[in-house]
Amino acid sequence: MRVLASLLLVVVLALGAGGAAARPVDAAPDRVGGRHQVGYDRYSLTVDGERILLWAGEFHYFRLPSPDLWRDVLEKIRAAGFNGVSLYFHWGYHSPKQGVYDFTGVRDVDRLLGMAEELGLYVVARPGPYINAETTGGGLPAWLKQVPGRARSSDPGYTAAYRDWLDHIDPIIARHQVTRGGSVIAYNVENEYGANVDPLYMEQVQRKAREDGIDVPITHNNCCGGNLPNWSSGQGAVQIPGVDDYPQSFDCPDPDTTWGPWGDGITRRLREDAPVYAAEYQAGAIDLFDAGYEKCRQLTGPDYMRVFYKSNVVGSGATMLGYYMAFGGTSWGWLPQPNDVYTSYDYGAAITEGRGLTPKYDEFKRQGYFATSVAPLTKTDPSAAPVPADAAVGTLARSNPDTGTQFVLVRHADRASAADVTTTLDWSTPDGRYRVPVRIAGRDAKILVAGYDLGGQRLVWSTSEVLTHAAIGGRDVAVLHGRDGENGSTVLRYSSAPSVRVLDGRVASSYDAATGDLRLDYRHSGLARVLVSGGGRPPLLLLLGTAEEAARFWRLDTGSGTVLVRGTALARSASVLGGTVRLRADVDRAGEVEVFGPSSARGLVVGDESVRVRRTPSGSLLGEVSGPRPVVLPSLTDWRHRVDVPEAAPGFDDSRWTKADRTTTESPIKPKTPPVLASGDYGFHHGNTWYRGRFTPTGAETAISLNAITGRRGIYLVWVNGRYVGSAAGGVQADSEPVNPDPGRGDFAIPAGLVEPGKPATVSVLVENMGHNDDWTADDTRFKQPRGLFGARLVGSDAPITWRVQGAEGGEDLTDPARGPLNTGGLHGERVGTHLPGYPDRTWQRSRSLTDVPLPPGVSWHRTEFRLDLPKGHDVPIALRFAEDGSPNQRVLVFLNGWNVGQYLGDLAAQQDFALPAGLLREHGVNSLALAVIDTDGADAGPGGGSLVTTGASRGGVPVRDVPAPGYAELHGG
Ligand code: GAL
Repeated sequence: MRVLASLLLVVVLALGAGGAAARPVDAAPDRVGGRHQVGYDRYSLTVDGERILLWAGEFHYFRLPSPDLWRDVLEKIRAAGFNGVSLYFHWGYHSPKQGVYDFTGVRDVDRLLGMAEELGLYVVARPGPYINAETTGGGLPAWLKQVPGRARSSDPGYTAAYRDWLDHIDPIIARHQVTRGGSVIAYNVENEYGANVDPLYMEQVQRKAREDGIDVPITHNNCCGGNLPNWSSGQGAVQIPGVDDYPQSFDCPDPDTTWGPWGDGITRRLREDAPVYAAEYQAGAIDLFDAGYEKCRQLTGPDYMRVFYKSNVVGSGATMLGYYMAFGGTSWGWLPQPNDVYTSYDYGAAITEGRGLTPKYDEFKRQGYFATSVAPLTKTDPSAAPVPADAAVGTLARSNPDTGTQFVLVRHADRASAADVTTTLDWSTPDGRYRVPVRIAGRDAKILVAGYDLGGQRLVWSTSEVLTHAAIGGRDVAVLHGRDGENGSTVLRYSSAPSVRVLDGRVASSYDAATGDLRLDYRHSGLARVLVSGGGRPPLLLLLGTAEEAARFWRLDTGSGTVLVRGTALARSASVLGGTVRLRADVDRAGEVEVFGPSSARGLVVGDESVRVRRTPSGSLLGEVSGPRPVVLPSLTDWRHRVDVPEAAPGFDDSRWTKADRTTTESPIKPKTPPVLASGDYGFHHGNTWYRGRFTPTGAETAISLNAITGRRGIYLVWVNGRYVGSAAGGVQADSEPVNPDPGRGDFAIPAGLVEPGKPATVSVLVENMGHNDDWTADDTRFKQPRGLFGARLVGSDAPITWRVQGAEGGEDLTDPARGPLNTGGLHGERVGTHLPGYPDRTWQRSRSLTDVPLPPGVSWHRTEFRLDLPKGHDVPIALRFAEDGSPNQRVLVFLNGWNVGQYLGDLAAQQDFALPAGLLREHGVNSLALAVIDTDGADAGPGGGSLVTTGASRGGVPVRDVPAPGYAELHGG
């Protein structure tokens, strides 16, 4: 701790309760560029002494292999009101081999951080070294399993390995820090480091970060509350310890009744001198039980968000929040960690895997706009809450000690209640004592504000919630909202009676000359508009909407001030030039667009469409935009296929394969029968691995008995002397709890006459590796679980078997670095480039559909091409859809233009759609689709479905360039 303390001096601490002036926190773009000081105190982070409420969404660049689409997602995250992103950096994604790193193409994180910076999004950088994240090895590279020394400890072998990673990633992060003109505002070390901890390691990782130039505050995300070490004090302590909270658990199959089984989700304060940090707050769920992500989205839907997020903001006073996930994406290739997830990592997030916006996005927007608009929220202490007349309603309050502004949470006293209760609050506000009517209907919670200097106005109190407000066109414009059909009241204060004009809707007003209170009473319904002027204050346009209406607003900062836009499906950015407002917006249907901007604004351009507008009585510009053009996707009716299992043939030449003759392994899990057969010991880490064994039969062999470890849902297939003898499910774990000395066992009878005494026989085994275990418990007996064959013996004879092994061509020396280490394994087709565009398949058999083709057991490849010419300037997310009733005996690797976009499992009902992200997908050109079907029984025709679908089209989007990657000719010289 002493060592750390001296290192920490580089960070300017803004200590003391009144230390930093409050100011709006939505102005992140102002602070990006130039050098700034980052500090913090018990209330919040500060930049140049100004308080920040960090409202961040989690995004995994490695789950979206199309850098131009990073911008799309980051813009969507920003447009939802987030002012930050939380980013894991995935060691294994960048490093195929010890000492080898790649930060180009889809791995160009310098570009990613540059984008965040341009968009004015603060970044919490989370480079691990361990990240968990339901990805292979929890982000640790597979080669680390062969490195001596316990992972996530101060053991020298591991230390040298992770320091090399940090040597590479830290300088990239460091140059993007706020302190150097970038937007990285905090640096998170390790991840939920709570089991088997080594405080020296925690200290060393931080020391390394400081040596590498990290000078922003260091954070950590603690898991699960309870008694796990949280690094708030002692050796290894971090400056800002945070907490991960998943109050809804991962119970996606049961979204309707689940309500906070894992607690009330109030983030714990871990240090008195640092802000409360909700490092990962649940914003979706992994689909642990294969319910499908729509159920996870329901589990963590707007009801949950309203009640838990708002309760947390007022309950904990957290001013640093990271919502996990804002966009989940795709665990393409061999990115998934096998035991918890499959290809899709949609996560039930607010932004879908197809980058679509959901009702959860609207809820984020309502809360995020509020959190980043109302500056006094950056510094609050618990305060006396108004007392409800009905005890069924519960209240909780915080207030800002400098401004007096109060934030009152109103919700059911019993947090599980879904009753409809109306009552009054006895509320002592900074501007007087009031009886305030409130209603909580169903699963709801509100944060009501009192005593707030809203621009040039004084908000005494309101039972509507604040969306946002800004000075626009010489007046204050404020958007308030409430649930459809609920009553609302808003009280503002003036020195003399103001003039009140109701422009739209029904709003009653009364003025009390004694107090100076103007009271507005209304029912939330559509969008009411009230213009208040005079009374000793600048004019105010008050927009009073339902929650739905509020979510239709977009707040955009331009060089000419704030602009509010209403009506488009998304608004990314705006500029005002020569009286014209230019919007970069997405439009998913024809309809109204309204812009509240500078009074000089007269014209409107949306995308490339010039929109005819008129000025409304509200002073805004109103016009109609046209919708997207229709999109017709080609049907896939021209396939070519072939069976491709040459390795099974006895005469196959495997002389170039690696001899599997090792007798020792770094893994604490030793082979059941020697030699070591684990593929990782021979440098084959991902996807499928072939084994070929030779033995000289005695004539007494009746069967071959194998063990393979594949991770959950993995399989292996076996041939003897070229004949298929069956398949088995791979094991998940060996030698751990519950102890399983016999994982993934399969006994394969050798048919009589197939092998002859004294005549060399071959056994060929194809073993899938579904990905590597994570290391949540910092325990090598879990993390270093082998993959591949784990035991092999003949039944009936002691004849020894000698083995050769082959995985991805080149092993750790990648032949295709652009697509990287997780793209292919060792299928024959992968080794010879069958998955690549341009592979010569002209001699293959043709079929009109996949289901036309009878498949023998083993591997078959199916290729087709399709041409797209999507409307220019549109965003059309496309997926490949398989049938719901797939065969349990089939699995399909899907390659789009050579990129492995995932694995369809015939019996996994949770996923039939495979995202084909633009960039990998040529939106204006020819695409190649290659499917590797692995079939275990030969009873079925090819998989059903296999058609292109879209989840919707909009005008707008971002320009997307093709992601460069070599084709067949470049890689195989064909
Ligand atoms: C957290 C962890 C994340 C992710 C999440 C569940 O515990 O830090 O990396 O695994 O759980 O999706």
